Amino acid sequence: MSLASHILKKIAETHGTPTYVYDIDRIKERYQYFQAAFPWPGLTICYAMKANYNPNILRTLRSLGAFIDAVSPGDLYMAMACGFKASRIIYTANNMKDCEVDEIMKTGVLMNIGSLSRLEKYAAKYPGTRLCLRFNPDVVDGEHDKIKTGGDLTKFGILLEDVDKVLRVARDHKLKIVGLHEHTGSGLIKPDSILNSMKNIMSVATQNNFPNLEFLDFGGGFKVPYGPDETEIDYKLVGQDIVALFSSFCDSYGKKLGLYFEPGKFLTAKAGCLLVEVNTIKTNRKKTICGTDSGFPQLIRPMFYDAYHHIENISNPESDKIEYDICGNICETGDLFAKNRLISRIREKDLLSINDAGAYCYAMGGVYNLRPMPAEVVVENGRIMLSRRRKTSEDLILSILEESIGIHPGQLNKHSNEACYQTLVGA
Ligand code: LLP
Repeated sequence: MSLASHILKKIAETHGTPTYVYDIDRIKERYQYFQAAFPWPGLTICYAMKANYNPNILRTLRSLGAFIDAVSPGDLYMAMACGFKASRIIYTANNMKDCEVDEIMKTGVLMNIGSLSRLEKYAAKYPGTRLCLRFNPDVVDGEHDKIKTGGDLTKFGILLEDVDKVLRVARDHKLKIVGLHEHTGSGLIKPDSILNSMKNIMSVATQNNFPNLEFLDFGGGFKVPYGPDETEIDYKLVGQDIVALFSSFCDSYGKKLGLYFEPGKFLTAKAGCLLVEVNTIKTNRKKTICGTDSGFPQLIRPMFYDAYHHIENISNPESDKIEYDICGNICETGDLFAKNRLISRIREKDLLSINDAGAYCYAMGGVYNLRPMPAEVVVENGRIMLSRRRKTSEDLILSILEESIGIHPGQLNKHSNEACYQTLVGA
């Protein structure tokens, strides 16, 4: 974690655990690095807010000039609430319902459509409008099978070979196709994947096919190192090839287009950690198991993708290293943050930092076992600020009961024992 241990300890003392911590200065640095890596006048960075929708992060990226890649009405309203104008948002949901399309069209954001079926329905209802089209780049890459988006085994994008069908619909309904989009996968591993996907999209992006293009959007997927054997990719080097390819494409297209990317992980993953406290150490026959006060619903990547997250013992960093399984407090055997991991000797009450947790961690969280999500704290210029408080169990249960049919907090005493009623409604 980029933040010093004394800051993390102070955060845990003030705000308790489990708590997510985001280093806002690091996010700014990552954004500026990305900008410098792709020196193109029309570079636009559309932050994939699915990675982390924390409002402090969104406001920071807005102030740096980012656009937003939104994937649901919730994303859209959150981005707008954090100051993003409709003209700075692209809407790339998949499998939308008709009413979702209508809802989004009222906001004026640019719609990105990735299936022929949706395109036909859209064109009939919204002829003559500006639109972006998502194609499948036909390149398969990503750091886990679940997050590879290109190729014919996935649900994403229109096949390149269907471009004539697209053109027929667009022509019949006078659609103005202003952008073409693709996203190959998350955590692209092969060095040439981005260039290959770009070339495939460029093969259909001709003046003849699409005379009104304003930009090409090549999605996200910029890899960050998680595991001990992974190294940071030098995107400044890769960026030169990408910009050269794009520049020669623009020459043949006859117009300097916008070059759009949608990084999520790249901007936020390395800038976050989850602080947890150790409450139980157990030595079974073969293993030492370390139990913490968080669990997989609060950081699911290790369980869901077998993802590696580096873990530091902030309270005892210098000691000899021991092999541990680091577990959570959820009633499932798979509730593990790390297996057979060498970590400085852990004692009960020690503070652990689960690192590289700024992307797809809080955002993928839930309240399984009815444990409220962690608090979120941001650090900027050395200032520590609580960004989102941790709900209490009482808050969580009351909100569920309020949303449930037929049970209102006022009726609780009929369903629950008196002590519970006292706790929840304080009566
Ligand atoms: N654009 C589109 C259309 C996407 O679907 C995604 C990610 C991105 C951009 C941003 O990709 P990134 O730069 O963050 O790799 N939950 C998974 C990652 C899922 C990514 C889904 N789409 C994980 O924790 O690894």
